[in-house]
Amino acid sequence: MSSENRKPVKKAIFPVGGLGTRFLPATKAMPKEMLPVVDKPLIQYAVEEALAAGIEELIFVTGRGKAAIEDHFDRSYELESTLKDKGKTALLKMVDETLLPAGKVFFTRQQVPMGLGHAVLCAQAMALNEPVAILLADDLILSSTPCLAQMIESYNVVGGNLIASMEVPRDHTSRYGIISPGEIKQNLTEVTGLIEKPSPEKAPSTQAVIGRYILQPEIFDHLIAQEAGAGGEIQLTDAMAKLIGQQPFHALKFEGRRFDCGDKVGFLEANLAFALNRDDMREALKTKIGELLLAPQI
Ligand code: UTP
Repeated sequence: MSSENRKPVKKAIFPVGGLGTRFLPATKAMPKEMLPVVDKPLIQYAVEEALAAGIEELIFVTGRGKAAIEDHFDRSYELESTLKDKGKTALLKMVDETLLPAGKVFFTRQQVPMGLGHAVLCAQAMALNEPVAILLADDLILSSTPCLAQMIESYNVVGGNLIASMEVPRDHTSRYGIISPGEIKQNLTEVTGLIEKPSPEKAPSTQAVIGRYILQPEIFDHLIAQEAGAGGEIQLTDAMAKLIGQQPFHALKFEGRRFDCGDKVGFLEANLAFALNRDDMREALKTKIGELLLAPQI
């Protein structure tokens, strides 16, 4: 492998231009990525994960109605001065932690939500021909080591392209991009093919791609050339598939639990899991869940 394929990953793309139709009416005027899990918006979890993995530049691909994301990571003078005046230092610190490094944050708009691949393509000029991490905020992961940090550790060994993956039940393969597996070394699988949402009979494995990627800049060449695929959208999976055979391509079975927060049940499950994981909420929540399970349906 050439050293070209192992440049450090310092930039992350956050595609947040989708319409979030599965969460209507909540997402009519509010970005899906601002939905809170317990007390923090999904996008903040993704940003914190990226920063914890050593990412230095953050590129948000937004769309209409997504201004709240930009505001969330900016100063909020009125709020900050009120908290200061009232001596609420813990809350002030919490608000302060949402600020991102000046000059290292970029916002661009995807004018029409033409798919994840198209959203990533919108970030090309800012990626400056370097490898990029891509994080989908609606894939939320509860783990002891942040998922992207696990990926960077593996990337530093194998280089090239790396995607996060997990085993799914065979009857769920049509919900995911699925990997054709090659050589397997511990938690790393060589990827020899990728297929978007195959039926259980056609799925080459039950190893599914989830929303964390490290991709080499050649991905943009394939995205530019990409015709619209399933649903009239430009699919990231189709462009990634073209890198296979040209560059190293691996899938990492990460340690942790992933929640699909783009789906209502997955989102509720994430709220429960993250709250149960917190010492300040666990016992009270367990009691409430017990009560709810016994309560009659209305
Ligand atoms: P989804 O496939 O969940 O689509 O996108 P969506 O539009 O957000 O939601 P539904 O299916 O209508 O409910 C996965 C990620 O890719 C981004 C989304 O913002 C989300 O973070 N995305 C998707 C874009 O940035 N642009 C697109 O055109 C599509």
